[in-house]
Order: sequence, then C-alpha cells, then structure tokens
Amino acid sequence: VPGPTPGDMARAFRSIRRDPLSYLVDVQQEYGDLVAFPVPGTPALLLNDPADVRHVLQTGARHWSKRTVQYAALGRVTGPGLLASAEPSWMQHRRAAAPAFHHERLAVVSTQVHAAADEAIRSAVPGGPAPAGSVVDVSSLMHRIALDAVGRALFSADLTGHARDLLRATSRAAELVVRLGRSILPTAEWAPTVLNLRLRTTRRRLDVITSELIAQRRARGPALPGEHGDDLLGLLLDSGLPDQEIRDELVTMVIAGHETVAASLTWTLMLLAEHPQVQDRVRAELASLGRPATLLDHRAQLPWTRAVIDEALRLYPPAWVVSRRAEQADVLGGVAVPAGTLAIISPWLVHRRPVTWSEPASFRPDRFLDADAGRHAYLPFGQGPRLCIGRAFALGEMTVVLGRLLESHRVGLPTGWQRPEPRAQVAVHPQGGMPLILTPRTGT
Ligand code: HEM
Repeated sequence: VPGPTPGDMARAFRSIRRDPLSYLVDVQQEYGDLVAFPVPGTPALLLNDPADVRHVLQTGARHWSKRTVQYAALGRVTGPGLLASAEPSWMQHRRAAAPAFHHERLAVVSTQVHAAADEAIRSAVPGGPAPAGSVVDVSSLMHRIALDAVGRALFSADLTGHARDLLRATSRAAELVVRLGRSILPTAEWAPTVLNLRLRTTRRRLDVITSELIAQRRARGPALPGEHGDDLLGLLLDSGLPDQEIRDELVTMVIAGHETVAASLTWTLMLLAEHPQVQDRVRAELASLGRPATLLDHRAQLPWTRAVIDEALRLYPPAWVVSRRAEQADVLGGVAVPAGTLAIISPWLVHRRPVTWSEPASFRPDRFLDADAGRHAYLPFGQGPRLCIGRAFALGEMTVVLGRLLESHRVGLPTGWQRPEPRAQVAVHPQGGMPLILTPRTGT
C-alpha cells in the first residue's frame, strides 16, 4: 500500500500538529484512496474509498473496535462514556440513553431549544430600534445556544449558571484531548506531566458540575413527568448505572452534544452569509410553515433547509476524523491487513472525494435534493452501530436555531471578509471565531 516513508514521518508529524486537515488532503492527493502511515508500533491505514469505510464502520464493524489512541485520549476526559467506550457494555448504555433521542421525546423539547436560541440571540445582539447591523462572533453565540439546549432538552436543567465553567472546562478538555491524541508516544496516565495534571483538573471540574446536576435531580424528582416521558438524566438515573458511569455519560453528552452542533451552525451561517439567495430561500421556506419550526420538521417539511444543513455538514463535518482498530485480520480494498491495524477515516476527506462529488469544494445544497446524491460517501454522523445517537436531535436543533435567527435577523459578511481557517480540534472550528453581521429585520 503506498504512503509516506518512515523518513517522511518527522515532517508529517509537524504538519499534522500544525494543520491536520491540509495534511490529510495532501496525502490523499499524493497516494490515493488507501494510504499506509508508518505509525510506530502499529500498521495504520487512511481509508478514503466509501466501500472500505462502510466495511470498517458498518458491514465488518464487529471486527473493528474503538480501541485507538483517539478514543483513549477522549476517554481520559469522558471516562468510558458512550462515545469513547470500546467495551461491549457500550450497548447497555446506548439502550439506556436511546429513548431520550426518540421522536416522541424530541417533539416535546422543541420549545426548550427554541427558548435557548431566543434568549441567547436577544442577549448577544443589541436590541432597540436601531436598524444597523452589528458584528457578532457567531461561533461563541452558537456555543452558548448549543450548551443551553443540551441542558434544557437532555437534563431539564438550567446550565446557564454553570455555562461559563462548562464552556471553559469543555474547550480546555477538547484542547488537551487533541494534544494527547496527536502525541506520538502515549504517556502513562499516572506520570506527573503538565498535560496529565491539567487533564485531571479539567475532569474534576466536570465531575463537580455533573455531580451537582445528579444531586439536584435526586432532590427534585422527575423532570417532566406524565405525558412528556423522561429526559436523558432521568433515564440514566432509572437505569441503575453507578453514579460514576452516569457522570461519564453526562460529560460525554455535554462535550459531544454542544461542540459539534455549535460548529455546524457556525459554518452553516457563514455559508448563508456568503450566499444571500440561499439564505432568502431558507427564510421563505421556514416562514411558509406558518408556525415556529420544531425538532422534527427537518425530516419532511423543510427540504431546502435540510439540504442546506446537509451540504454545510458535507463541507464542514465537525467530526473530521474517526478511527478503529482491527480486532482480527481482515481485508480492505483487496489488501490483507493484520489484527491490530489502525484504520483512520476522515469525513472531511470522504466528503471531498472528486470521484464521488462533482465540484466538491462548491456550496451547492441542491445536490441533496436528489435522494441518492453521494449518500454512500456521506458520513457526518458516522455509520453503522456506532452512528451518532444525537443525529436527529442535532439536525432538529440546527433547524430550530436557524429558524429563530433568520426570522429576526439577516446574516451578512463584514467588510474585508476573509473566510476564517478551519481548525481541527475535537470538532472543526473557525480559527479566531466567526465575525458576521447580524441585522435586525424590520417589522420583527
Ligand atoms: C457519535 C458526529 C451531535 C452524542 C458520533 C459519531 C459522529 C458524530 C461522526 C461517530 C463516531 C465514531 O463512529 O467513531 C456528530 C455531529 C453532530 C453530533 C456532526 C452535530 C452536528 C451529537 C449530539 C449528541 C451526540 C447533539 C448528544 C447530545 C454522540 C454520542 C456518540 C456520537 C454519545 C457515540 C454513540 C455510540 O457510539 O453509541 N457523533 N454528533 N452527538 N455522538 Fe454525535
């Protein structure tokens, strides 16, 4: 299998540290769809052919585990929560959490997401009669909304009191996880390195907040009893899992559930600011509902809005890399691979594969109006048994938040606009934030 030689690797690790997305694009262009990486101690392959990707994540998934450096690093913060867990006990946790993401439940939390968006927009954008637009860092606005939405919809808790702490702790955690994941040689967890000490402090801070959430709920009883069913926190408390495992799941959901949604909304708004006609069409479609959008409308009621979201997630998939380890020998792209092989899959790359996507760099939502377009090579939420549990929630939340913002504001580009560089952390975020102009719409 072609790939960089061991001699290239020192340069490669420097590039990976600096700008992993560009490095992956370069490697794929140079070596093709199946690329061997000389990672010390482990055979490693970068997979870009959708058939190989599907084999590892879906059809052959039982032979490929999450026992990789990436998920070990994440697990240092989240513990063996749903996202990082490589153990069979993952299934028990997934079953316990699943009803919190069912359609019936999503239908009742739309108003919470709606309120989270309205409150954050009101406090971030100067109100009053002045019609002039103001420059707002949409990235931090979307982080606030997404964190608040997770708190209200999944924990029936007001996280705003903790918001500053949580945002700081999760972005710190994300930074540390990325540094850990990129280090060539794993350091022992007990070693008193600066990174280890910081990780421990961050994890402790997250533990304190989640312990408080659990204690508050135990003292208060069920969140929304009766016809509303129960939220994620209630389900976990009823599941009989030990408190530490419940805390792991809460930390997992806070990190996985807000960083990703915030990033996708941010990039979507940038694309809408760059394409005012697309923005007008989204606004018109949302208005044609004649009522505020719910978390379920993206499924059938709003085809254009959904196509815009899908296309934004194609160009800027927040989860830019996933990895698996072969638990036994297997065959990929006609090549025999030994047990222990590390498979690296980058939605960022698969979504830009020229063989599959015409004009892959262009923002063209209409491609998603065709039901089959590129679906086999589209995986912003992963594939197979470890598919994102929050997929429907995320798509619904994006629809509701876009609906609230576009109803009251126009989104535009500041003068001298230059696209911020995408920075690959746990999710792909814009370097230096996303300053866009929000102009109140007259008559609203
Ligand atoms: C798994 C992406 C939103 C919770 C995943 C995976 C991807 C992903 C790619 C699979 C990882 C792998 O196979 O290695 C995204 C994106 C989101 C999003 C792009 C937003 C646009 C959410 C939300 C939540 C969430 C809102 C929860 C509130 C999880 C969890 C898993 C997961 C718990 C692990 C599921 C399992 O292994 O059973 N996500 N996610 N995600 N996601 Fe999401």
